[in-house]
Amino acid sequence: MTIVNTQPFPWLDRIICGDARHMDEVPDAAVQLVITSPPYNVAKDYSDHNDNLSLDQYVNLLNAIWRECYRVLAPGGRLCVNVANTDRKPYLSLVSVIDEQLRLSGQTWLHRGHIIWDKGASAGISTAWGSFGRASNPTLRDVHEYITVWSKDQLKLEDGGETGVSGNQFVAWTRSIWRPEELLPELQKKIAEKLADARKRDKDDAWIAESIARAVWGQAVVPGETVWEMTTESSVAHPAPFPVELPKRVIALYTQPGDVVLDPFMGSGSTAIAAKLTGRHYVGYELSAEYCQLAAKRVTGLATART
Ligand SMILES: C[S@@+](CC[C@H](N)C(=O)[O-])C[C@H]1O[C@@H](n2cnc3c(N)ncnc32)[C@H](O)[C@@H]1O
Repeated sequence: MTIVNTQPFPWLDRIICGDARHMDEVPDAAVQLVITSPPYNVAKDYSDHNDNLSLDQYVNLLNAIWRECYRVLAPGGRLCVNVANTDRKPYLSLVSVIDEQLRLSGQTWLHRGHIIWDKGASAGISTAWGSFGRASNPTLRDVHEYITVWSKDQLKLEDGGETGVSGNQFVAWTRSIWRPEELLPELQKKIAEKLADARKRDKDDAWIAESIARAVWGQAVVPGETVWEMTTESSVAHPAPFPVELPKRVIALYTQPGDVVLDPFMGSGSTAIAAKLTGRHYVGYELSAEYCQLAAKRVTGLATART
C-alpha cells in the first residue's frame, strides 16, 4: 500500500508517547515493515523504562510487543529486530531468545535470516579479556549486533514494488554481513572534494557541514548532532540509539516509497528520521516523554534543515 494523502490516517507520521504493548491507534495490517531495537535488559539508565527486569518479565514484555507487531503488519510484512547478545554472566544470546519467542508464538512468523551488523572500529576497545594470553578464561568481546528478520504469514509482501535502491546497494545489502565502514573510502573522497570546493568559494563552517551532509550522506543535518558517525550515534541524548543508517538500509531494502514503517521502541527517533529520508511514512511508540520530545526535535530539525 502506498499512502499519498495522509489525512484519513491520524496515526501516521506520529510518535505516540505510550506503551507499545497496546498500539491501539494503529489498525490491523496497516504497516509494511517493523524495524526496532528493544531495550537489552542490561540495566541501562532509561528515563522511564526499568532495564533490569527478570528474564521472565523481559520475555513477557517482548512477547506482548511482538503480538501487536503481528496484528498491525500486512501479510508478508517484515519484522526486523536489532539486538545484541549480552555479556551478563553467563552470556545470554538475546537473538536466540527472540527467535525462539517468534517461532513458538502460535502466530505464523517465517524466519528470513540474520543480518550481522559489524560495528568494526566503533565497537570500542573493551579489555574484558577474562584472562590475557592464558588458557584459563579467554572471553569473547562482541563487535557485532544482529538484525533478525521475520515475515508475517507469507514470504512475499503483497504489492511489494520498486524500492528505489541501486543494483549495487541491493547486492551489498542482501549479503548477510553489513559493514558500514566499507563506504568510508568513498565518503572520504567525496568529503575532500566538497571541502576543497567550499574553501575555494570562501564558505563558512556551517555551510560546509550542511553541504557535505547533503552531498555525502544524502541527508540534511540534524541541528546539534554529529552526522559523520555512521556506525554509532554517540552524540544523541539517549542511552542506546542505533545509527540512522541501520533502519535506513532495512527500510530501503524491504519497503517502497509511501509504505508505512513502525518502530514500537522509537527512543530518540532514528527510525522516523530514516523513514523521512527515504520517503516512507512512519509511526512509533515511546514510553518516555523525554525521549518523545527528543525524537520530535530530531525529526523537526530534519524538516527545517531541508527547507
Ligand atoms: C534500545 S532503545 C531504542 C533506541 C532507538 N532505536 C533509537 O535509535 O533511539 C529502547 C526504547 O524503548 C523504550 N521502551 C521501553 N519499554 C517500552 C514500551 N513498553 N513501549 C514503548 N517504548 C518502550 C525505552 O524508553 C527506550 O527509549
